Amino acid sequence: MQNLESIVRAAKTAFATALDPDALEQAKARYLGKSGQITVLLKELGKLAAEEKRKVGAAINQAKAAVETALAERREAIRQAELSARLAEEALDVTLPGRGEAQGGLHPVTRTLERIEQLFASLGFAVADGPEIETDFYNFTALNTPEDHPARSMHDTFYLLDEDGRLAKGLLLRTHTSPIQARYMQAHVAKYAGQETMPEIRIIAPGRVYRVDSDATHSPMFHQVEGLWVGENVSFADLKGVIADFLRRFFETDDLKVRFRPSFFPFTEPSAEIDVAFTHGTQQWLEIAGCGMVHPNVLSRAGIDPEKHTGFAFGFGPDRLAMLRYGVDDLRLFFEGDLRFLRQFV
Ligand code: FA5
Ligand code: MG
Repeated sequence: MQNLESIVRAAKTAFATALDPDALEQAKARYLGKSGQITVLLKELGKLAAEEKRKVGAAINQAKAAVETALAERREAIRQAELSARLAEEALDVTLPGRGEAQGGLHPVTRTLERIEQLFASLGFAVADGPEIETDFYNFTALNTPEDHPARSMHDTFYLLDEDGRLAKGLLLRTHTSPIQARYMQAHVAKYAGQETMPEIRIIAPGRVYRVDSDATHSPMFHQVEGLWVGENVSFADLKGVIADFLRRFFETDDLKVRFRPSFFPFTEPSAEIDVAFTHGTQQWLEIAGCGMVHPNVLSRAGIDPEKHTGFAFGFGPDRLAMLRYGVDDLRLFFEGDLRFLRQFV
């Protein structure tokens, strides 16, 4: 009997010190397994006399029940402990503040382009589009630009190379939006071929352009907005009127000086560059556009009779307009993707 009590006590201690199910099963085997201490005692019962057998048997079974109860309790305790540990590990802190969603905003140049489109739409200009990878023909030849013109040099123009590193059949990144003039006029003529009168053309064409250029007022990728108005009796005075009206409304100020500085473009004649300056602050002139009357060679190459139709064209630098409007002194800041800079315009 003494022996039984100490076996039960030892079993309880062994169970209590088992920290996981595996250790507990091993402890169980030592008492209740095939050659466990209690099992062995039960097997030896057979050797006893009938009277003795009943008494001792009852005592062993009682001890066995006590060990089984202790085992079941410990199993449950370990299960609970494991569950709590897992719950603690996977706990969600519902009091943590949320991460929130970053608010997007339009890029200042995009806002400027949208503003330009709106203002010209109110003057009856539709929006046209063209490819950024352009042919040498539309970027230069169709625009009356001679073979040896400096703009065609590798110093100014990004040319595309083929797999062997040779120039890819006259493909380049367009250096201005002017090729859209040529493309649009050609398509327009084809569309109204056979009609007695050709409807006038009045479009703007905003888009990205590329040049081998980089300083505070030049970025290798920048934007232009081409403008083209071709019809009967369109004059340089109309050009000046449209530009002056646009600029006054764009900058919403009368503190603005505009000058047309005589210049040269192969595709316009006469040609001018448009400079603006504010009458306050530094009062420095900044060139914002090139413009002029569409050259008769460009008209006739597109199939338009220069005796019947005239037109003007312009090419604005909207990045420069955004610089002036927002008071930014280095144009390249617009394209560096620094959110601290860009957030100021949202
Ligand atoms: C032209 O590109 C002509 N195609 C404009 C034109 C169109 C003339 C139609 C006549 C008729 P220019 O190279 O000057 O012209 O560029 C026009 C404007 O683009 C400039 O006035 C300037 O505002 C802007 N610009 C030119 N280069 C850059 C550059 N690297 N980065 C930012 N803006 C530029
Ligand atoms: Mg210029």
